Amino acid sequence: MHVSKRLPSLRKTALALATGLAASLTLSSAQAGDVEVLHWWTSGGEARAANVLKELMEAEGHNWEDFAVAGGGGETAMTVLKSRAMSGNPPSAAQIKGPEIQEWGELGLLGNLDGVAEAQQWETLLPETVAEVMRHDGHYVAVPVNVHRVNWLWANPEVLDDAGVEMPTTLDELFAAAEPLREAGYIPLAHGGQAWQDATIFEDIVLATAGTDYYRRALVDLDPEALGGEPMIEALSTFKRLRTLMDDDMSGRDWNIATSMVIEGDAAMQLMGDWAKGEFTAAGLTAGEDYLCAPAPGTQDAFTFNIDSLAMFRVSDEGEREAQEDLARLVLEPTFQKAFNMAKGSIPARPDLDMSEFDSCAQQSLADFQRTADEGGLMPSMAHGMAVRAAVQGAIFDVVTNYFNDTDMEAEEAARRMVNTAQAAY
Ligand code: GAL
Repeated sequence: MHVSKRLPSLRKTALALATGLAASLTLSSAQAGDVEVLHWWTSGGEARAANVLKELMEAEGHNWEDFAVAGGGGETAMTVLKSRAMSGNPPSAAQIKGPEIQEWGELGLLGNLDGVAEAQQWETLLPETVAEVMRHDGHYVAVPVNVHRVNWLWANPEVLDDAGVEMPTTLDELFAAAEPLREAGYIPLAHGGQAWQDATIFEDIVLATAGTDYYRRALVDLDPEALGGEPMIEALSTFKRLRTLMDDDMSGRDWNIATSMVIEGDAAMQLMGDWAKGEFTAAGLTAGEDYLCAPAPGTQDAFTFNIDSLAMFRVSDEGEREAQEDLARLVLEPTFQKAFNMAKGSIPARPDLDMSEFDSCAQQSLADFQRTADEGGLMPSMAHGMAVRAAVQGAIFDVVTNYFNDTDMEAEEAARRMVNTAQAAY
């Protein structure tokens, strides 16, 4: 069951949080210069990336208190954050993304980064798609760390060669690769059976089978006709067919374990955002040689974006506030943007940096970001908290994962549930 369902929604806990905030302004335990940062970057590649920020902050004389909460997709981290905020003791900074930034902003809990934004000229430095997510009520409250692309396919070229198959570019090619790969002794698609991972591949399939406009209508605008329409039913059926490419032990598996199955050559491919590239990089592998990347089959015209960002909580201690401002400034400086994103698998949040040291997948990502922005295929990722608020996202996750794991549930039924739950949670 999806954890957020058991928790009160952010809106419902507003009063408790406001009371908590009053306490936090007097009870804050942080010393001047301390900065406690909540995030969920705990896999090999993610931890390497997070360490870049820790070292830069320490080099500026600040004390980094690592508040890492394991769990891909960040659901557990968000649960922990809510309880810390409710007890009146939020961390200085937290990885909060997309529309959820607005929810925290509405509660009056976030600090103001306008001073840093003005000094560093964020208005001109950041693409508007990125900048608008960072503002609440016209003020900067968060700083963008990167831009992840979600709709990627990763593959082990030796495994593909051994089975005599090419990197699939369409869903038909992906399904057709299954038999030769199985015959050669490989799992065609590595997957971890967790709700957020199911949702990650589900949105790829909606894009591939129904197209970008439909994706937007259904999963961003929550248009009930699109959520319950024939193309959605078709997408759901195709999504469930993906199970035929997976192994029997996928239930509960973490995403980075699935990536390691591709690295080890047990599985041929994985559909996952480019944080998976952080794992290939941490294993010392070279893009285009030791592993391949391509847009998720059938989604070449789309770029589902997932912008990691650090939101700052309102603090009273002057030293802590200065540390927050330094943190925000460092995050957008070229040194951090390069080192962090090369380790993390993402591309910089600011598009003006020299990308020559980045690998070929990152270079393709940047080119595709710009191309899809021009052509209308740049889409916020529903699965990664960019498209809809947390309660709606949780409701969609529940339907998607229950349907994927229930052999008896028909696609029509899942589409009906999607319409109902999305409306109820809205
Ligand atoms: C995403 C997050 C990434 C990565 C991934 C796996 O939601 O944006 O930074 O951590 O989850 O945990």
